[in-house]
Amino acid sequence: MPASLRQLRVFLSVARHESYTRAAEELHLTQPAVFSQVKQLEERLGHPLFERIGKRMFLTEAGKVTVDGAREALDAVERMHMRLADMKGLRQGKLRIAIVSTAQYFLPRLLGSFCDANPGIEVALMVTNRQTVLERLSQNEDDLCILGTVPGGLDVVATVIADNPLVILARHDHPLVGERNIPPERVAREPFILREPGSGTRLAAERFFKARGLSLPMRMELGSNEAIKQAVIGGLGLAALSRDTLALEGQLGVLKTLDVAGFPLLRQWQVAYPRGKHLSVVAEAFMDHLVANGQAAVEAGSGPLPGPAVGE
Ligand code: PGA
Repeated sequence: MPASLRQLRVFLSVARHESYTRAAEELHLTQPAVFSQVKQLEERLGHPLFERIGKRMFLTEAGKVTVDGAREALDAVERMHMRLADMKGLRQGKLRIAIVSTAQYFLPRLLGSFCDANPGIEVALMVTNRQTVLERLSQNEDDLCILGTVPGGLDVVATVIADNPLVILARHDHPLVGERNIPPERVAREPFILREPGSGTRLAAERFFKARGLSLPMRMELGSNEAIKQAVIGGLGLAALSRDTLALEGQLGVLKTLDVAGFPLLRQWQVAYPRGKHLSVVAEAFMDHLVANGQAAVEAGSGPLPGPAVGE
């Protein structure tokens, strides 16, 4: 007898969490029920799917093959439901999106307008850093991923949706505020508050300075754009952040962008998915929405781009 969809769904959850207990929590089942579904699946397929080394669970080779097949099968069934709903004039189904944390400043606006126009859609939004989004993208875990420029070498389809300029921020009373065309060497003598390793923002800033033989003196490393802005306001140093993060503080004049030669560093937001993936009806519609409205949503938050320094 072939594997059932229910077994595949349970198996994928265990594989994702590497834990029966956490899969049981996610699926609102008991742990023994999850265990028995996986056991039955193993019997049907004639292969052990997991092995335990120490306390950790690992997928066996057969388990890895089953992950790919299970994802394809469940995606195909979901697409079928969406197409049928579409035939009735209803756009409904699930939209799974992973975004880098900096995209949270404009993406919710776009999701809001999309969900208003398509009330039957359920959205699962994962907000994390660039490294994790890239891992999810290469493992085909979401319908769409939104991040700064996708690195070459990944076999994905990537489409630009908006500008994403990186700026250097200082507190309004910092001595460099108001200076024109500040050389990068001068800025690199100031203490910097940087995002965590794995962040696209940090990578872009470090690359810029490294290309000029400079490194940024790090005073502190923080895993959130909001915490970084508060640290700059607290006088702890300068920061390089996407201009999208500035909507409120920029308007209030607490934070200023410095006029550093080479900045704003012009980057772009892209939406991406693995090449060869069959996009669902809903994902295709959301892609169109992103391409049509992405730039306007970004500008609604932080003003036209690349504009004059914020707060000046
Ligand atoms: P981050 O990515 O939120 O991981 O820093 C943002 C970007 O790449 O611009």
